[in-house]
Amino acid sequence: MPEITVQLDDRSYPVLIGPDKRRRLERLVKKVDRKSRVFAFYDAQFYALHGHILKKETACLRGAAGEMVLPGAETTKSLRTVRRLHDFMIGNRISRSDLILAVGGGVITDVVGFAAATVLRGVRWAAVPTTLLGMVDAAIGGKTGVNHPRGKNLIGAFWQPSFVLADIRFLGTLSERMMTAGLAEIVKYGGLEGEDMISAIRAYLEGGRLYHQRHLTELVTLSAACKARLVGADEREADQRMLLNLGHTFGHAIEQTLNFRRLSHGEALLLGLEAALQLSILLRPARAKALGDYRSLVRQAMRRVPRVPIDSDAVLKALATDKKRSGTSLRLVVLDRPGRARLVTGVQPAQLKQAIEKTCVTYYHTEV
Ligand SMILES: NC(=O)c1ccc[n+]([C@@H]2O[C@H](COP(=O)([O-])OP(=O)(O)OC[C@H]3O[C@@H](n4cnc5c(N)ncnc54)[C@H](O)[C@@H]3O)[C@@H](O)[C@H]2O)c1
Ligand SMILES: [Zn+2]
Repeated sequence: MPEITVQLDDRSYPVLIGPDKRRRLERLVKKVDRKSRVFAFYDAQFYALHGHILKKETACLRGAAGEMVLPGAETTKSLRTVRRLHDFMIGNRISRSDLILAVGGGVITDVVGFAAATVLRGVRWAAVPTTLLGMVDAAIGGKTGVNHPRGKNLIGAFWQPSFVLADIRFLGTLSERMMTAGLAEIVKYGGLEGEDMISAIRAYLEGGRLYHQRHLTELVTLSAACKARLVGADEREADQRMLLNLGHTFGHAIEQTLNFRRLSHGEALLLGLEAALQLSILLRPARAKALGDYRSLVRQAMRRVPRVPIDSDAVLKALATDKKRSGTSLRLVVLDRPGRARLVTGVQPAQLKQAIEKTCVTYYHTEV
């Protein structure tokens, strides 16, 4: 039963992974506070598919002080939803000793976590992520928030959960594209962690079974450990935590040029990882040898990305806008070798362009 700890002094918390954990929920809730009442918020699709089992097995959910089901759609991440959650909790007399439970993908953990951070100036919350992306990324690290009409995740707070419980069995009902979304982040962690994790990812992909529980348990554990370590070292993203952006600057720019429609965040991230590797090598060609195996893994995962036309000039423009908006120089994460990432600034537009163009060539010529 893998257990990872996010080390943040008195706000440290466990991330529990693996099948057969639902009964543990009872114990984890009691550990937070024996007398606390539970307010549970569920992703609607998850609730329809697994809600009855989860509640049957978990008494604290059957006796919840209140429960609400929310659509797991990006539009749910709004201040309007936060208002609804606040009305519901305050209407049901929530107190500072109660516990808020967010059960769902990143949408639910982000918005419910933010409602928890703000109601009564902060009530404890815990996450039960039900998507692969939620288990390896969104539910860990305490970034909570909602979108603003001007952009994603512009309103939010750092509010760490009291525990995270990831039951791999829930993943069985996700679509293949949703699995790729989580896989992309796992491949990113592989680059940050190094050879051992890369071998584990390769074994999973070569096994050809996307929903294989043992492999997934191992990969979620390794990913959670990587994220926990970086969050523990730098909760507010001053330096270390920025390494988690490996592949993301390029990935975001690609998503932007596609109006956030044709590729998911994870699919764009796989292209972004390829671009980050291309850039790492352009900046220092001697890196090519050490990065060879990891590059082939990224390409293997990239085969899962649907082919859509990418306009490399538009991607370059999007990177420049990103830079202008943040008011700082563009900071990119590159790899010296798997397990050794660093931030670079001052990359020339011509080098960015070359990295993007090379990525497009790889993308279109990778066998599907
Ligand atoms: N806070 C963070 O650090 C962080 C990190 C990464 C991403 N995010 C956020 O996470 C969000 C994306 O999260 P996501 O990819 O989990 O998507 P999501 O929450 O939108 O869920 C995707 C879909 O899966 C459904 N679903 C959930 N669990 C299911 C299950 N077990 N079986 C079948 N269907 C299920 C949902 O109803 C939804 O339709 C974005 O808003 C992103 O900004 C936050
Ligand atoms: Zn991401």
